[in-house]
Amino acid sequence: SNLASLKNKKILITAGGTREYLDPVRYISNRSSGKMGYAFAEVAQTAGAEVTLISATKQLAAPNGVKVIYVETVTEMMTAVHNNFDKADILIMAAAVSDYQPVQFENHKIKKATQSDKLILELQETPDILKSLKNLHTNQFVVGFAAETEDLLNNAKGKLRAKGADMIVANDVSRHDIGFDVDENAVTILQPNEPNIQISKENKKVIAKKVLEVIAKRFA
Ligand code: C5P
Repeated sequence: SNLASLKNKKILITAGGTREYLDPVRYISNRSSGKMGYAFAEVAQTAGAEVTLISATKQLAAPNGVKVIYVETVTEMMTAVHNNFDKADILIMAAAVSDYQPVQFENHKIKKATQSDKLILELQETPDILKSLKNLHTNQFVVGFAAETEDLLNNAKGKLRAKGADMIVANDVSRHDIGFDVDENAVTILQPNEPNIQISKENKKVIAKKVLEVIAKRFA
């Protein structure tokens, strides 16, 4: 098959939307379902790869034969990625990682204020997992995602370099029929010094297979 070169490759995949807690019962997250990452895990495992899935969701069934590490926050996901990056051949960062986290975590449930009808929440940038790997790459092929609601290709192109990725899979999350939380997606694959590859609307498993075929060519 077109995925033959992925046999026995160690593929690390992240999936789902991370959660950043404000207090023990509340968090900030996003609409990512994890379906895209799980589709990558299933297709890669079927192709004979050794797959480790770092999952920020518990809503989806783990594909057979895939090792799953469950996480919630960016910090937990970062630790799990760092613990597994060394031995990986390929990293696919399909997770929708929170860009901001609360400056302060309250140990007790935040009470409704009595004096004001407003609550101001202070956020700080999260550590960027992909960027943190930039100087740790040995031979890993690193794939990032760009989920955008505007100026998709320009934003994605910027991310190729900023994130030190070998490939960015760009998807438009402003459309309701593709992207976050649905079964279908349509993507554009960007690689340095290569023409972009467009994959039109398909089930996420088909998208995963087509993206993996492009990656597999690099290992053939
Ligand atoms: O910057 P942005 O969130 O749009 O970048 C998207 C890509 O970067 C995704 O592959 C995502 O998994 C990754 N990312 C990350 N660490 C963050 C934020 C995003 O690795 N803190």
